[in-house]
Amino acid sequence: MAVSVWLLAALFSLAAAGEATKTNVLWINVDDLRPVGTTYGQNLTHTPNLDALARESVVFDRAYVQFAVCAPSRTSFMTGRRPDRTESFNFIDDFREVGQNWTSLPQYFKNNGYLTLGGGKTFHPGLPADYDEPYSWSPEEPYFGLEDDSCNETVSPVPPYDLQSDNICTVANASALWDHRMASRAIEWLDLARAMDRPFFFAVGMRRPHLPWIVPIEYYERFANVSIPALMQPTLPRDIHNIAWSAEAFNSATLGGVSYVNAGPFEPAFAPNVTAELTRGYYASVAWVDSQIGRVLDAIGLGEAIIVVHGDHGYAVGEKACWTKHTNFELSTRVPLMIHVPGCRAKRSPFVVEIVDLYKTLADLANLGLPAESSIQGKSLASLFADVPPSGANQWAAYSQYNRCPTLSEDDDAGINITSYHGACKYVAKEDIVYMGYSIRTLSWRYTAWMRYDGRRLQGNWHDCDRFTRFNLNRTMQPPPFCARELYAHPADEDLSDFGAFEMVNLAGDPAFAATRDNLHARLRAHFEGDY
Ligand SMILES: *[C@@H]1O[C@H](CO)[C@@H](O)[C@H](O)[C@H]1NC(C)=O
Ligand SMILES: *[C@@H]1O[C@H](CO)[C@@H](O)[C@H](O)[C@H]1NC(C)=O
Ligand SMILES: *[C@@H]1O[C@H](CO)[C@@H](O)[C@H](O)[C@H]1NC(C)=O
Ligand SMILES: *[C@@H]1O[C@H](CO)[C@@H](O)[C@H](O)[C@H]1NC(C)=O
Ligand SMILES: *[C@@H]1O[C@H](CO)[C@@H](O)[C@H](O)[C@H]1NC(C)=O
Ligand SMILES: *[C@@H]1O[C@H](CO)[C@@H](O)[C@H](O)[C@H]1NC(C)=O
Ligand SMILES: *[C@@H]1O[C@H](CO)[C@@H](O)[C@H](O)[C@H]1NC(C)=O
Repeated sequence: MAVSVWLLAALFSLAAAGEATKTNVLWINVDDLRPVGTTYGQNLTHTPNLDALARESVVFDRAYVQFAVCAPSRTSFMTGRRPDRTESFNFIDDFREVGQNWTSLPQYFKNNGYLTLGGGKTFHPGLPADYDEPYSWSPEEPYFGLEDDSCNETVSPVPPYDLQSDNICTVANASALWDHRMASRAIEWLDLARAMDRPFFFAVGMRRPHLPWIVPIEYYERFANVSIPALMQPTLPRDIHNIAWSAEAFNSATLGGVSYVNAGPFEPAFAPNVTAELTRGYYASVAWVDSQIGRVLDAIGLGEAIIVVHGDHGYAVGEKACWTKHTNFELSTRVPLMIHVPGCRAKRSPFVVEIVDLYKTLADLANLGLPAESSIQGKSLASLFADVPPSGANQWAAYSQYNRCPTLSEDDDAGINITSYHGACKYVAKEDIVYMGYSIRTLSWRYTAWMRYDGRRLQGNWHDCDRFTRFNLNRTMQPPPFCARELYAHPADEDLSDFGAFEMVNLAGDPAFAATRDNLHARLRAHFEGDY
């Protein structure tokens, strides 16, 4: 798959002579960032820098991660492989265990002569060890490892609270915060690359808006009195199996020294005043990280590099009784994605794309050609930068998966507790994962099926879905085995800017949509069974 002639022309016009045909890349990924800003119709958030970049970029309206939690998602996009291939489903495994000699995305640029530097959360810390030094990064500069901030006694609490260890807190000295230091370091890298006259690939891993929302006080004050609209859908729809919901890490929120426990799935996660306060905190943290991304963008000319910004997964602040991530809903899987290519026209791309596509896309856009390693997955999205999108793009789909490890015995029917499906698999060996939910998103639909997991084969037990063809409507506590299905319509005119508005009605049990459901199920199964 080659980039179009006009795109090549644009890239060559950038370049000086000879060696300089290599295009620089600035890759910024942002922890826990959902599609925010006026770019994504979020008029309460404040992201002037991302919005300005978006005006010079191809903005993807439908971009999805392969696994809605940090480590597996990052392992996937840093290697260009899906979770079933990296065998990284949680916070235990790293890709070097199965892909000892795989070429990671930064490594691919390094091998192509780039000055390849990284910092913050690119790989999840420790997965692989040492942020994959020395393989992924150039030796000129050490990796700038993440040092997280915390709300503690050294920082000012959010008024009117006066207690510590909260999820939201403010700090007087902005330059002490991690994202400020990360941005400063990236700016130093730019100076270094210019001085060395080398093409660069910089991976900047921003930490916020991950909890805790620690921000300079003015970022909190901007939102302190903003009225937050009530959630349209504060609970899980009743007609889906509660395994779809999550209560793993971060199941409570702490404000003013009070811990508020997520009461979902069939009650709102938090009271409206708590949800509103959390939303303000998230927005403050988003505004802060935007300001630091802005510092980096100000230092680099838009004509100087391909610039990509995206989130590592989506985020919920109470919608569907969900809090943070860990689901297969649109809320968790959909991320902001914008790619600026010097000389290319800005536009919006409505097509369904996957974050695993970034590997081949960046290789292609930077004119390096596609990697020869056959185990790299995804596809190049470079064709979407042309005026006429490739035929068939409206048939593209995104695949995601998420695991669940209940704490109670799954055979103990009588004792099945509503909380029992939701246990985290965060530190469960992959062979012992109990359930997997697989999800496909097309332009018009999302279909998800949850089933038992066969740890021996590292495969979903798809036969459960042959046996349980009827959807278990209103049987939210149905004991295993089951095949819990969800089907959601995503009409073309849907307002994707309201996170509480979509995926509210499960159509999996509706005979009128049986053919759609069965087609999507077959496609989902073919994809995940075919991956080995
Ligand atoms: C912000 O968005 C909401 C929901 O779409 C809308 O009701 C409101 O009028 C908008 N406010 C502004 C200032 O644009
Ligand atoms: C990695 O190792 C495999 C198996 O030993 C081999 O087939 C493959 O060519 C190697 N790939 C690279 C990029 O060295
Ligand atoms: C408190 O937070 C600061 C700034 O984030 C950090 O440097 C310090 O180590 C933290 N102290 C404790 C006791 O956690
Ligand atoms: C703010 O933090 C930076 C970085 O840690 C430090 O160099 C500076 O001295 C601090 N300023 C004040 C006023 O504390
Ligand atoms: C918020 O509103 C209250 C009451 O009107 C006011 O006292 C306070 O100063 C406002 N806070 C900010 C940060 O604007
Ligand atoms: C929310 O309202 C409850 C009941 O009025 C109150 O006890 C609690 O402190 C409030 N919490 C926040 C974060 O405003
Ligand atoms: C389910 O778990 C909750 C919280 O641990 C407990 O209060 C409740 O009694 C349990 N219900 C059953 C049926 O075991």
